[in-house]
Amino acid sequence: MGNLPNPRHMLIILFFSSVLRSSFSFSSALFSPPDNLLVDCGSSYSTGLNDRRIFLPDFNGDSVRLISDEPSFAVAAKNNLVLEDETYAPLYRTARVFTGSSSYVFRINNKGTHIVRLHFYPFSNSDQDLSSAQFHVVASGFVLLRNFTASSNLSSSVKEFIISVEVDELTISFVPSTFLSLAFVNAIEVISAPADLIRDTGRLVKPNNVETFYGLSNQVLETLFRVNVGGPKVTPFNDTLWRTWSPDNAFFHSNSSTKTVYFSGRIMYQKYGASREVAPDNVYNTARVLGANSSDLISRMTWSFPVNQGYRYLVRMHLCDIASLALNELYFSVYINGYLAYEDFDISAATSHYLASPYYVDFVVNAGSSGILSVSVGPSTFGESSIVNGILNGLEILKINNSVRSFDMELPIAFLVHRSTEGALTAAFRSLICWFAFVLLIVSGFMSIWRWGIQPRNHITWSPLSMNAQESQITKADQF
Ligand SMILES: *[C@@H]1O[C@H](CO)[C@@H](O)[C@H](O)[C@H]1NC(C)=O
Ligand SMILES: *[C@@H]1O[C@H](CO)[C@@H](O)[C@H](O)[C@H]1NC(C)=O
Ligand SMILES: *[C@@H]1O[C@H](CO)[C@@H](O)[C@H](O)[C@H]1NC(C)=O
Repeated sequence: MGNLPNPRHMLIILFFSSVLRSSFSFSSALFSPPDNLLVDCGSSYSTGLNDRRIFLPDFNGDSVRLISDEPSFAVAAKNNLVLEDETYAPLYRTARVFTGSSSYVFRINNKGTHIVRLHFYPFSNSDQDLSSAQFHVVASGFVLLRNFTASSNLSSSVKEFIISVEVDELTISFVPSTFLSLAFVNAIEVISAPADLIRDTGRLVKPNNVETFYGLSNQVLETLFRVNVGGPKVTPFNDTLWRTWSPDNAFFHSNSSTKTVYFSGRIMYQKYGASREVAPDNVYNTARVLGANSSDLISRMTWSFPVNQGYRYLVRMHLCDIASLALNELYFSVYINGYLAYEDFDISAATSHYLASPYYVDFVVNAGSSGILSVSVGPSTFGESSIVNGILNGLEILKINNSVRSFDMELPIAFLVHRSTEGALTAAFRSLICWFAFVLLIVSGFMSIWRWGIQPRNHITWSPLSMNAQESQITKADQF
């Protein structure tokens, strides 16, 4: 027996390793979305990106269909593209152009939250100038874009929406603004989001208190800003859901001493904390912190974003304590639009007492009349003289649909999409029903006349009421 391990020790080791495995997800397995529909519109062949994804042509397969009453055509850029950002350049060489209301119908295998990205790059060649196209984009009964024009300064627009799809198909319609305008799109991504990406509740920040906001997962969200605080741009190549995180320099300001920190150790994802799909390592391993000499209660690190008033916003703060040397040293308060949104946040308690463990907090706020949404981090009242008095690793600002299911107007969808495919289909269906009813009436009219003709006179048992009914039906049919 001498060299064999003691079975009791073996059991203890097994027990602890399974405890460890269940509380941390060490695996680096990539998330594999059940729905992953990637379309390079107007292209006649598949297109690969450097983030290892393949986009298929838009006439290929039955998981994506194009429905259009009026002609649509594929166009290709004739010249080489000059792009600031090359990430999606291969997708921007072609587009599909619509002369009337047209829809892509995506087959959804796995109901639930989906990420939808629409790519617009307005190239022009001798035949087409896509920068003059003006159109609306509608999906699931929500107006995603109204009177959209892709800017002509040779940069692309990627519009990202988070939509809960509870039916078997997702229809995305492109509706030219006027009879003369065109609509176009270069590429579309429809990707299943992991179940934990959007939780149902958030902290609703009001001027004098914070309440619970319910029903977050039923809202449609538009991603406006996604920043990697204190770090470089994170490209789709390095993101678990092919997102782009921009540096925060353009949004950041502070009234006291701050510094950026970088962490090269392992990010400790926990089973019930933020997963790697909520934000990747590259976001959590950089941060900005409020320095030691900024325990003064008016010290703030602030990020400001331009937003539209009249809408609600989801503000997601990504936090991971990569700066403290020990637990229970970092406490801070969060202010949104100047209102106290989270007092004395205790990051050690939130992450079940692990350092370098990711966590996120969702706030729901109304945009103020200033047109600016500001998020600030300041010291807590009970943070003593610790080396760090506040931290932030990442920040996302998402616009929430308004009560008329729009992101850009107060009018209901019917005002906008009078020529939509949906409208056309309903009209066609209605006229079909009318014709069917008409034919039925005529046939039944003839049938009754015929039966009346062949029946012996003394067997007439029809009541005057049913005769009248027949007559009045025939008169109605005559009116068609
Ligand atoms: C779209 O813009 C045109 C002018 O470019 C305007 O006449 C029209 O009312 C706008 N439509 C909507 C729905 O905003
Ligand atoms: C991915 O991230 C690593 C650092 O984490 C960086 O060196 C590399 O350039 C990134 N790649 C892309 C394509 O962004
Ligand atoms: C967004 O749309 C949903 C579905 O119509 C609606 O229930 C919700 O109230 C809307 N959100 C807001 C903030 O009005």
